[in-house]
Amino acid sequence: MAGTGRTAKPSAAKRKKGGSAASGRKKPPGVIGITVLEKNGLDVDALISELVRNAAVEFTAYYYFTNLRAHCTGMEGEGLKGIIEDARLEDLSHFESCIERIYQLGGSLPNDATEFIRMSGCDFLKLPPDPTDHKAILEKCLKAEQGAIVNWNNVCNMTIGKDPATYDIAKDILAEEIEHESWFLELLYGRPSGHMRRKYSGERPHTRKHSRALDMA
Ligand SMILES: [Fe+2]
Ligand SMILES: [Fe+2]
Repeated sequence: MAGTGRTAKPSAAKRKKGGSAASGRKKPPGVIGITVLEKNGLDVDALISELVRNAAVEFTAYYYFTNLRAHCTGMEGEGLKGIIEDARLEDLSHFESCIERIYQLGGSLPNDATEFIRMSGCDFLKLPPDPTDHKAILEKCLKAEQGAIVNWNNVCNMTIGKDPATYDIAKDILAEEIEHESWFLELLYGRPSGHMRRKYSGERPHTRKHSRALDMA
């Protein structure tokens, strides 16, 4: 998926110093959970940027999928609503799954929500010219899933062998994105996905353990 935004964040050196001497503020504590990653050769700032952008993509895709799904009208649209609902709620799970890790790494979300949406690069998920054109809606959904696969595969490549905690989250999100892609490929091109329907929308079989805040019970 397109999108090149990066949230403003301190460099590794600034994170260590925290600018405390000049401001008179207390020196921030050392964070061993970050130090070990840097010793492992991880570019922590680059990872934070990637995670914040991916969080923006997931959050914004959740919004746009909500609107696209609402425009799946008629008898044929009713079946599509179920598939898009499963993908939509799992995008919300993907957003939730990476938030805690961003803060643990010393990052944060942009204060300005409009900046957060802009950095996602998800404008292409606006309604098609004919808002209830099911094929056009499915093509947009497929493009979103394929972009998400690239995004989370990047995080896997950045963290494998260096940051097991982030890798665990990224590979679980990636597994669900691969499933979502296969659902939309099947709907558009008849390519069998081996799709076993979720037991319920929001089941999120791979990312549930990372997004327990969404469990209401
Ligand atoms: Fe997602
Ligand atoms: Fe997805």
